[in-house]
Amino acid sequence: MNPVLILIFFSFALSNNKINMEIVLSGIRSTGNLHLGNYYGAVQNFVKMQHDYNCFFFIADLHSLTTHPKPDDWKANVKQVLCEYLAAGIDPEVATVYIQSDVPEISELYLILNMLAYKGELERTTTFKDKARQQPDNINAGLLTYPVLMAADILIHRSNKVPVGKDQEQHLEMARNFGQRFNNMYGVDYFPLPAAFNFGKNLVKIPGLDGTGKMGKSDGNGIYLSEDAKSVEKKVMRAVTDSGPAEKNQKMPEAIENLFTILDVVSTPDTVAFFKEKYNNCEIRYGDLKKQLAQDINKSIDPIRQRIQEFSSNEPLLKKIVKMGQEKARESASKTVREVREIMGLKGF
Ligand code: TRP
Repeated sequence: MNPVLILIFFSFALSNNKINMEIVLSGIRSTGNLHLGNYYGAVQNFVKMQHDYNCFFFIADLHSLTTHPKPDDWKANVKQVLCEYLAAGIDPEVATVYIQSDVPEISELYLILNMLAYKGELERTTTFKDKARQQPDNINAGLLTYPVLMAADILIHRSNKVPVGKDQEQHLEMARNFGQRFNNMYGVDYFPLPAAFNFGKNLVKIPGLDGTGKMGKSDGNGIYLSEDAKSVEKKVMRAVTDSGPAEKNQKMPEAIENLFTILDVVSTPDTVAFFKEKYNNCEIRYGDLKKQLAQDINKSIDPIRQRIQEFSSNEPLLKKIVKMGQEKARESASKTVREVREIMGLKGF
């Protein structure tokens, strides 16, 4: 057979494959920079999945409107997440990378799904109750229907799998409920019910530097991907520790265990073993441990930091990527909205 024909056949088979692949979707809100936890806990896994699934990764700028950000900040916020996605290794030629507000079909599906979401269940959502407590002066309807918008994000591409952290699992369950209700109400089997993507033992939870809990975007407990080396060092040196182990092979308190968890991710096994042994022999000097940790964190994020800079200074490239993502996302989204309208009987007069 002609080698050119073989090539055409294979490339057709490959591109066709993407169509038959399961659909994976996830998003990150454009509020603040990504920290190590976002990177090792989420984005790094997105990068691994992009070749095995038909992936949609987007920037959830509409979700950030609940806190009324200033118009002048919109671009920088979106650009930051975009550059971080790309710098981490998400390939916009392989995955579909887009900005939520570039796809108006999501907002239309959101409106439709709002008719299937009940006030009671929205009020019972854990994140809503938390936010309402945190911002009692701004309990707007968008905050209440946040899970409906998230369901629209997911259902708009009829996604099968959604890689999210534990804190988002309730939202995902609501997305399943809304999809199921649509299917039941119209007697169709249209929306697949999206499942949480489970990374199994690959799921790393990066703890914060303040002794307890996971890394968050709040005060000093997180290290950002775009942060400079000096500031990383400062934060690590300030991390909470204790007065040291009193007896050999003693169980580590959470604050110390947390430092080792991060070390595990960024350092070599030899380094980890070295400090573990020191700890178990009660010979550990936390200052040395922290110095090593800061050095290895910097080593591991340095290439990403550089790529963030490169993408950030290449606006023409970013514009091209955003446009391409918008086109791909709208192609899939408009098909869904067209079919949903058809199912609901909104067929045009
Ligand atoms: N709510 C998610 C968060 O705060 C972000 C998000 C919005 C999302 N839409 C989504 C995540 C759809 C997964 C799928 O982290």
